[in-house]
Amino acid sequence: MAHLKPVLAGNWKMNQGPTAVNAYLDAFLAAHAARTDRTVIMFPPALTLATVRSRLKERPDIRVGVQNVHTEEKGAFTGENSALIAADAGAHFVLVGHSERRHVFGETDVESAKKCAKVVEHGMVPVLCVGETIEQREHGDTEQVVLHQLRTGLSMLDHEAVRGVIVAYEPVWAIGTGRTATPDDASTVHRVIRAALVELVGDGARDIPILYGGSVTATNVKALLAADEVDGVLVGGACLDPASWATICGA
Ligand code: 13P
Repeated sequence: MAHLKPVLAGNWKMNQGPTAVNAYLDAFLAAHAARTDRTVIMFPPALTLATVRSRLKERPDIRVGVQNVHTEEKGAFTGENSALIAADAGAHFVLVGHSERRHVFGETDVESAKKCAKVVEHGMVPVLCVGETIEQREHGDTEQVVLHQLRTGLSMLDHEAVRGVIVAYEPVWAIGTGRTATPDDASTVHRVIRAALVELVGDGARDIPILYGGSVTATNVKALLAADEVDGVLVGGACLDPASWATICGA
């Protein structure tokens, strides 16, 4: 059981435009009353962020972020989103190094580090995602892979900035597969991450939320949140259904 206020984060990935979001938020906001004992964050597509923000004017308990930014903040980078513009658009959080960025778009650990630095520079919180593939797990490399992603991803931040991040452990084999890590599997890796964070920045690292992500559902969320060192969840598929997302946010 974690000592931190739980963080419930929903990554919409490339789903839900400004039209669809209205019915979604009608249903979700009706089912989830504001609570001060948890942090709820939604990561809509960048093109939907403005609509979400305007719908959340009366619900400051729900925070928003974007799913990715470029390493540079402006210039000739057609099609990219920048940290400068994300902050201007009202984002408070940014996913960095999500496994789909790493494995579909070839994002490197060094790019994740640059992105984390840009996100912090613009006053937002990076949610640094780390996690091993099934081959790496079966090879016994989970710890080494996760720690390398973590240490490199945070390498351009000073200690104070590191204490302000969120880390998400998302094993690649559990994402979108229906194959969730057991609470014990999650705790094992979360303890390794916590120890590395403490080694890096001292005791203040105990206040860095470490989220678990990968096939989290309304059914398994409670057991995951009860696991040692699991401070919250990062949810993909199950956050697209307003009823299951409300159940997860109320867990
Ligand atoms: P699923 O919950 O669909 O497995 O996705 C997890 C994820 O990638 C969240 O960022």
